[in-house]
Amino acid sequence: MPLDTLKIKKEFPPIPDGVYLDSAATSLTPLAVMDAELEYYTDFRANVHRGFFKEAVRATERYEEVRKRVAAFIHADPEEIIFTSGATESSNMFVRMIDESAVVAGERMEILSTVMEHHAGLVPLQQFARRRGLPLRLIPMKGVALDYEEGAQMITKKTALLSVMLASNVSGAINDVHLLAGLAHREGAIVVVDATAAAGHIPIDVQQLGCDALYFSGHKMFAPTGVGVLFVKRELLEKLSPSVFGGHMISHVGEQVSEWAEIPSRFEAGTKNIAGVIGLGAAIDFLERHDVNEIHGHVKELVTYAVIELEKIPGVTVIAEKDPEKNIGIVSFVCAWAHPHDVAEILARDNVAVRPGHHCAILLHAALRIPASTRASFHLYNSKNDVDMLVESVKKACAIFTQ
Ligand code: ALA
Repeated sequence: MPLDTLKIKKEFPPIPDGVYLDSAATSLTPLAVMDAELEYYTDFRANVHRGFFKEAVRATERYEEVRKRVAAFIHADPEEIIFTSGATESSNMFVRMIDESAVVAGERMEILSTVMEHHAGLVPLQQFARRRGLPLRLIPMKGVALDYEEGAQMITKKTALLSVMLASNVSGAINDVHLLAGLAHREGAIVVVDATAAAGHIPIDVQQLGCDALYFSGHKMFAPTGVGVLFVKRELLEKLSPSVFGGHMISHVGEQVSEWAEIPSRFEAGTKNIAGVIGLGAAIDFLERHDVNEIHGHVKELVTYAVIELEKIPGVTVIAEKDPEKNIGIVSFVCAWAHPHDVAEILARDNVAVRPGHHCAILLHAALRIPASTRASFHLYNSKNDVDMLVESVKKACAIFTQ
């Protein structure tokens, strides 16, 4: 059933004239999320885990409540949730935590990922592999999906770490992480999942996925920018060393050495983005009120419609997972005669907001033998009318470049 987008739009600040189709870059922010942040600044502005005055206690309680909300949202335990500044910090931190620990050692010689990854997932792995002198191998794609046959061959006893995204931020393809994690665990590897593009579009269940770690940003799922999450399973987290050092993460400081606090405090050095964390809690409330499954149901219809209509335009090639069940809500495309930047500029004249470029996924584009693409990404506030405006504008762009 399509969602009542007119009613939903009222829960957001007025969207400027036009159509917002760039939620994969960052979603719009509901008023309730802004209110929650503002309430922190106006009613109980204080640091957390430090003071005993009433605002400090309230701030700490709210901050820790959000940890519980996030844990429930992904089916984890609160102690397994670390607040970060976003997916990029989560990914870098996790790889550093692995690097600082002894969990990747001995016979295990390879790091495995995929050509589909966002640079935030891939580049920290490259740095890790270089530091350790380990090969980094990448599972190829078959069309816009992962090549699972090849992936199954590549997962071996040598695999120390498998890093894979839950959904592509370019094609929208939802990966079978459960399958890959099962194969990797059979060989004793650690599995980390980048859920950034998927969060807010499909339910995330770390138990069902069977991963050891998972991360995402808040800002693509209605939370403010500058807040994110790193989940690490307790058994693994207990073995990892912190990678950022400072206040709050210690239990004792001596002249030469220090001892670490319990998990997860040990991984949250310094003052975190308290207002952002509170906003993240409000974003989860918003998502649960609208039901992630309902959102996906709505967005699936938009994906189906957009693929059909865009493919009718001569010269347009759609770069997306066309089975809407397996697409989180993204339809990228290329126009035969126009560079994506030119297409996006012409769309901008019609107030249609999309993202052109490689979308921080150069290797994905290389695998598809294209330099870049134009990406339309949908969320619960988009309607079929928005798709019509996109399609009309793409027609204009194609017409200009075929003259
Ligand atoms: N990672 C964001 C995107 O895919 C910014 O556009």
